[in-house]
Amino acid sequence: MHHLLTLDGLPRATVVGLLDRAQHFADTPGDFDALRGAAVCTLFFEPSTRTRMSFQLASQRLGAHVLNFDVSTSSARKGETALDTMRNLEAMGVRGFIVRHHDDGAVARLADAARPETALLNAGDGRSNHPTQGLLDMLTLRQAKGDDFSRMRIAIVGDVKHSRVARSDLHALRALGTGDIRVCGPASLLPDDGTLADCNVTHDVDEALDGVDAVMTLRLQRERMEDGLVDSLEDYHRHYGITAERLRRAAPDAVVMHPGPINRGVEITDEVADGPRSLILRQVANGVAVRMAVLERLLGR
Ligand code: NCD
Repeated sequence: MHHLLTLDGLPRATVVGLLDRAQHFADTPGDFDALRGAAVCTLFFEPSTRTRMSFQLASQRLGAHVLNFDVSTSSARKGETALDTMRNLEAMGVRGFIVRHHDDGAVARLADAARPETALLNAGDGRSNHPTQGLLDMLTLRQAKGDDFSRMRIAIVGDVKHSRVARSDLHALRALGTGDIRVCGPASLLPDDGTLADCNVTHDVDEALDGVDAVMTLRLQRERMEDGLVDSLEDYHRHYGITAERLRRAAPDAVVMHPGPINRGVEITDEVADGPRSLILRQVANGVAVRMAVLERLLGR
């Protein structure tokens, strides 16, 4: 593996190997020196809290020098392209680029143009891919439900159409052989491009939640949405919001996940988000460990 652009098509053994290594990092506090002396840069053209901070922390725990490119104070404001930005940073000796971009495929295009020794890590491109989120979600599921994904019933609920998280979760769930993948949302927020070909698709959230082991909720991503796809937030919540009452339909020990940031009271209630079944902050914790595993794999000595 030279770059991490997508989880699509990754062999099961590669995914499991990364999760095992991430679990080791999660279980082992303290610092490591796999990236000692290497320079990495977070190159984010879109906002981020969790992904960027956890990549920074992961790089630092591995001993790297970490540069944080801030688009609002950089020469991108003068029109410098992402490619020229990367080339200039490569010239300074940066070997790893952790990139988030609003355009689908933007990170892959940078990877094509990069020097042979440069590694690109996709931290989210458009609606397409968010591979480290997919991996951290699998680590979280595995910790809660064991490693036999063939027995798992998983519901992904919400704005799947605009979600790179959902796409990467689907790639990872398939790689791990998940038995029952259900996808639920209003027709206007489900992709019709073949993404859901092998999933059990429903518009009825009670049906989607029936007996599931985990509910993966998604944010309504209004910044990527044309107007009119949802009638109102109240209406969306009434039909698709995950409430404590709805959750009673799931398995008694079902867990709830959300990639963040949460629109509280829209896709999920406070009671569920902050309740005993919520793994939302466990996902965040696992993000550091998973990103350490990926950085070590791509850039480690
Ligand atoms: C997600 C993203 O940016 O794709 N956030 C994240 O990385 N945890 C999900 C979202 O924005 O809703």
